[in-house]
Amino acid sequence: MYKLVGRIAAYLLLVTVAHAQEYTEANLKEADVLAGEQTWQQNCAFCHTTGKGQAGMAGPNLYQLFKRKVGTHEGFDYSEALQADQRQWSPVLFAQYVQSPGSTIPGNVMPAVNVSAQQVFDLTAYVMRATGSVDWDAPAAATSATGGLDAELATSEPEFWAQYMENTVKFTLPRDNGETYSFVAYFNPDGTITGNNRGLTGIWRMRDKRNFCYSIERVGVHPYEWMRCLQPKASKNLVFGEIIERFAPVKGYEDLQIEMSWLEGRPYPLEGDAHPDYWTFLFGNTSRYEIKVDGKVEIVDAHFNKDKTITSPQGVRGEWYTKGANGKEDTMCYYIDGVPGVDGKLTECFALVLMFNPRVGARWPSRFDQGNSYWAEIMEGREN
Ligand code: HEC
Repeated sequence: MYKLVGRIAAYLLLVTVAHAQEYTEANLKEADVLAGEQTWQQNCAFCHTTGKGQAGMAGPNLYQLFKRKVGTHEGFDYSEALQADQRQWSPVLFAQYVQSPGSTIPGNVMPAVNVSAQQVFDLTAYVMRATGSVDWDAPAAATSATGGLDAELATSEPEFWAQYMENTVKFTLPRDNGETYSFVAYFNPDGTITGNNRGLTGIWRMRDKRNFCYSIERVGVHPYEWMRCLQPKASKNLVFGEIIERFAPVKGYEDLQIEMSWLEGRPYPLEGDAHPDYWTFLFGNTSRYEIKVDGKVEIVDAHFNKDKTITSPQGVRGEWYTKGANGKEDTMCYYIDGVPGVDGKLTECFALVLMFNPRVGARWPSRFDQGNSYWAEIMEGREN
């Protein structure tokens, strides 16, 4: 969060700086990282992750990219061309590769992406920061200009402000096989976005007078993160509970449309520990996992037990534990071992706040740290 605020603040400090194209450290530090993030989310986030330990998707995870050689993220199945290339990633090589992967590293299999030179410059600066390759984020000292635009919104666009800050947004994403996945989110006056979906984080900022921009990250299902800018005007046709907007957050994937509807007020608890019923509920019922392994689905009926073990009629075994800062337990982690076709353990952590409404029949998609996606469903009781 702090990092994001830093990025945005850095961007806002520099809106007046002329376009800098030379890939010097000084210029990159001053690039428009918000624009870079938008380019990233529309063109790259579909296939790549940037955070430490995050699973790769179609493309490799890019954590600390600029500190390593081409084609060396462990566990990713690179083309021979990338494996053979002995160069270290630099901002210039990165920019060339992104604009023309095939001619920069002949034999590469990443498809070309159509982005302008200015976009690539800003993108490079964004990726350097987001992948933890550099530590440039200056303290997020809000200038009067930045503090001003965000703070002014409440008075300059009161209807828009009320719509976003007092109600609940519901996002619905398409899934393969025609299913959908929804989560709810709150836009908060302090510039954060919180939600009831695992690990979700988000921020909103006024980019300039006409652009209210927000980014949502770690959504847990495709496309995992996106960014959107819109005019800060209250929706004219707002009817609570009805879809008022559809948008495609990823360029080139216009079929992937996210639906947005509004729920009146904020009745959905998003903060605090798990619901008090969560534990008795968890220990009395079965969490059925449908885990994707090499294109097939493995069923595991997991029993989370009071003694912190996980057992299942299929013979899968595991352990769970909770953790949290300052004695406040807010995260639950577990592993399971012995899933057919999987080498070693599958692990995952999630925010306990998500367990605010335990119920039989709840069904959600997610993904283990190792990359295997799954659907989980709560079944009543425990057989065997
Ligand atoms: C359709 C999926 C896809 C998209 C979209 C995509 N990539 Fe890739 N990317 C890949 C694949 C696959 C590879 C591995 C290529 C190979 O092995 O030849 C790769 C490799 C890379 C590498 C080299 C990583 C390493 O470890 O050496 C970088 C850097 C990269 N991509 C950046 C980007 C950026 C930036 C964007 C957006 C402008 C982007 N990619 C968009 C699939 C994608």
